[in-house]
Amino acid sequence: MRLQLAVFFVTSSLSKLISAKDDGLARTPPMGWNSWNSFGCNINADMILGNAESLIDAGLDKLGYEYIVIDDCWHAPSRDPNPPYAPRADENRFRIGIKALADEIHEMGLKLGIYSSAGTMTCAKQFGSLGYEEIDAQTYKEWGVDYVKYDNCYNEGQAGYDLVSYNRYAKMSHALNATGRPMVYAMCNWGEDGTWNWAPTIAHTWRMSGDIMDSYDEYDDRCPCESAINCKLPGFHCSMMRILEYAAPLVQKAGPGQWNDLDMLEVGNGGMTTIEYQTHFSMWALIKSPLILGNRLWTMDAVTLAIISNKLIIAMNQDALGMPVNRVKKTLVKNRQGEVEGNVQIWSGPLVDGAVVGIVNTSPVAQTISYSIAQVYPAARGVSKKYKVLDAWGLKDSSLGIAVDNWGKWLDGDISESGLMAVDIPAHGTVVHKWLPLAPGLSGTAATENSQKVMKGEL
Ligand SMILES: *[C@@H]1O[C@H](CO)[C@@H](O)[C@H](O)[C@H]1NC(C)=O
Repeated sequence: MRLQLAVFFVTSSLSKLISAKDDGLARTPPMGWNSWNSFGCNINADMILGNAESLIDAGLDKLGYEYIVIDDCWHAPSRDPNPPYAPRADENRFRIGIKALADEIHEMGLKLGIYSSAGTMTCAKQFGSLGYEEIDAQTYKEWGVDYVKYDNCYNEGQAGYDLVSYNRYAKMSHALNATGRPMVYAMCNWGEDGTWNWAPTIAHTWRMSGDIMDSYDEYDDRCPCESAINCKLPGFHCSMMRILEYAAPLVQKAGPGQWNDLDMLEVGNGGMTTIEYQTHFSMWALIKSPLILGNRLWTMDAVTLAIISNKLIIAMNQDALGMPVNRVKKTLVKNRQGEVEGNVQIWSGPLVDGAVVGIVNTSPVAQTISYSIAQVYPAARGVSKKYKVLDAWGLKDSSLGIAVDNWGKWLDGDISESGLMAVDIPAHGTVVHKWLPLAPGLSGTAATENSQKVMKGEL
């Protein structure tokens, strides 16, 4: 059985794992909250702490959300005018100072993130870190920072070739390392210059596209590239589905300590439907993007909380294997006039105790498809003749509706590896199935326990 499971997981590539930034940080995708998507520049110490408290009150810290990231605009109008020109926070909005803020965040059991840009200015025209990498990294260390998001605005044209971008971002990587304080390094150069090819050795996460906008698939020329590969103007106002499309060929670059960052989540910000937000949360999780919330936590509604606290989906994101799903099928959906109005996509990949299949329907009409695990995840072939399948967005108790801890429905019976499974996917929705291999002759709970034992090496 152990041997068979080894076969099940053969999709990992050794060379890529060896090249990761292997300092023990971000072995699974970072999780937390960032101020930008819902507050922009309108931030201060009190609202940062208020969101941190709300995160804890909602029980999100228990689910793994731990980084509270202050995005742009924490800055004073200028650096300290005296050498070594240390960065300073705005004295009015951050009266207690970043260090005291970090202390409070740490006392709450959380971690603090901060933001800067590898340019002369940040995107909101605050002072940037280009040329000040060492003093900035040193100051972040003194403040007790645990995570650094590093943007790409006002970079003085130091981009356009891989090595130019690499050198600019490696400088901060080395400066952070030299402080001796473990800090997650979250590169944000929007996928310029083939980031995914060189970022894994210097950063834990890298943004691979222009900025997200809170929309399912709205068209906007401010996010002009057809593909992220060789994109010369990543831009912003990228819809959620546009970023998912960009990410599809890049997932192969991710693994423990090196993650594609699909940008902060928009769940709860109001621009998408509940079903669309479930798609957003599912695919960010399955692709193993960092899960950084971007909504106002103190005014969060019950449905938003239920989506971002789906433990089954979070467990897939945090799975110790660290292998993202790959898109293995994309079937066009046509209307009666023969016009393409979307597609059905199948994504699949391994988990420590089985496999996951995500089925995405981008069309405006509900779709029904059939698939077998052997078809969409060939590595599963021969692992087990029978599986239990869990629908991660199925409601345990349908009378309770969408509510915290009501996710996860076991599908009836044992399903064979070649058996066709029919799935209904709502318009713009995503179905997520977890496949647990059964040892011969077992079923139900016994089988689940069995597969857990197999993973622990007890069988
Ligand atoms: C610095 O880099 C080395 C080599 O990759 C690594 O072992 C160490 O953990 C890093 N230290 C910090 C504080 O990041």
